[in-house]
Amino acid sequence: MTDDPTVEAAREMDAADPLSDLRDRFYVPEGELYMDGNSLGPLSVDAEAALERVVDEWRDLAIRGWTDADPEWFTYGERLGERLAPLVGATPEEVVVANSTTVNIHALVGTFYDPARGENIVVDDLDFPTDHYAIRAQLRHAGRDPDEALRVVESRDGRTIETEDVLDAIDDDVGMVFLPSVLYRSGQLFDVEAITEAAHEAGALAGFDLAHSVGAVPHRLSEVGVDFAVWCHYKYLNAGPGSIAGLYVNERHFGVTPALAGWWGNDKETQFDMAMTYEPAQSAGAFQSGTVPVLSAAPLDGALDVVEDAGGVAALREKSLALTDYLIALVDERLPECEVGTPRDPAARGGHVAVEHPEAYRVSLALKERGVIVDFRQPNVVRMAPAPAYVGFEDVYRAVEHFREILDGDEYEAFEKQSGGVT
Ligand SMILES: Cc1ncc(COP(=O)(O)O)c(C=O)c1O
Repeated sequence: MTDDPTVEAAREMDAADPLSDLRDRFYVPEGELYMDGNSLGPLSVDAEAALERVVDEWRDLAIRGWTDADPEWFTYGERLGERLAPLVGATPEEVVVANSTTVNIHALVGTFYDPARGENIVVDDLDFPTDHYAIRAQLRHAGRDPDEALRVVESRDGRTIETEDVLDAIDDDVGMVFLPSVLYRSGQLFDVEAITEAAHEAGALAGFDLAHSVGAVPHRLSEVGVDFAVWCHYKYLNAGPGSIAGLYVNERHFGVTPALAGWWGNDKETQFDMAMTYEPAQSAGAFQSGTVPVLSAAPLDGALDVVEDAGGVAALREKSLALTDYLIALVDERLPECEVGTPRDPAARGGHVAVEHPEAYRVSLALKERGVIVDFRQPNVVRMAPAPAYVGFEDVYRAVEHFREILDGDEYEAFEKQSGGVT
């Protein structure tokens, strides 16, 4: 890939890229190389238009928007679920948008944790913390001691989790496995299929947090038989800060009463009968709680146009892998003092690359000062996400050149050492 590590070669790859036009639909801040789409994707004209449409409808239709808007607001969550279903490999009824990712973990773990199936829940020690906070809370709620009931698979190298170690942790005392599809720090992609199969063999359920893969990596949740999944839309799907989250529930679980039951998850046909007893929708829609937050859902409606016009997630994944391959090769060649913490095997890699350096924190600040927007994760990781919808090969080339110049000039020394806060 870097047989020819020149800017001209990068430009040639951009010229041959069938998705290169998509970037014109994004507001990437002027003069910046935006490599932080695994944290917050930028606004697109499509997301902006969808949001503006809802604002217009609110002004012009007010309450009638629930039924007369285009599309009607009443079924906004279900309709977005239908559009999202191909992205995660599910049937339209198995997906809905609702709540935040964290709330959806509470909702789904709270619903599906059943000590009779097995007392323990398998997680890993590199998870995003909110997942553990929510699971621990649900275990406490079920009367269990989380320190006993959480079976935490430990990383051998501090970067990745061996599938073998996950499989070894699953035995008859396990009732649920809840893992990320992609680790937020190293970017390791888990073997969802093997883990789901092992969970089912042990009589356990398999749930996943797809925050770092939805929109970047295709999934086959229904086919693989994953029981439930959650995710957010503000990373690779570019639906905006704190935008409504998504969830999937396999159809074999339809009809179960959700732990966070609310009227918006009631069967739509009878919701306005206002009965005092809840009648769950026979779909993932049952896991909605309160009124769909249309304003936080609208940008996703536009953002999904971009994915569809790209030819779906498979096309985005193809380019994403080419970009991360290229980035890894450039880091190897141009930044020998750094290590790549992300698996090199494409089948085990999500959408970002963890570039490790002892001064990662200050290097990330120096990069941002130069307009290369990355982020830092403890203890030594600069995360670089060349999101395929709006990042090109020349951008990757230039970002690595900035990194090289910062190290050559010890430019990071101009920044204070880390003292906390958002990075
Ligand atoms: C794996 C994972 N889960 C959950 C979250 C955050 O959850 P929420 O959207 O509820 O803030 C993140 C945020 O980056 C994440 O990376």
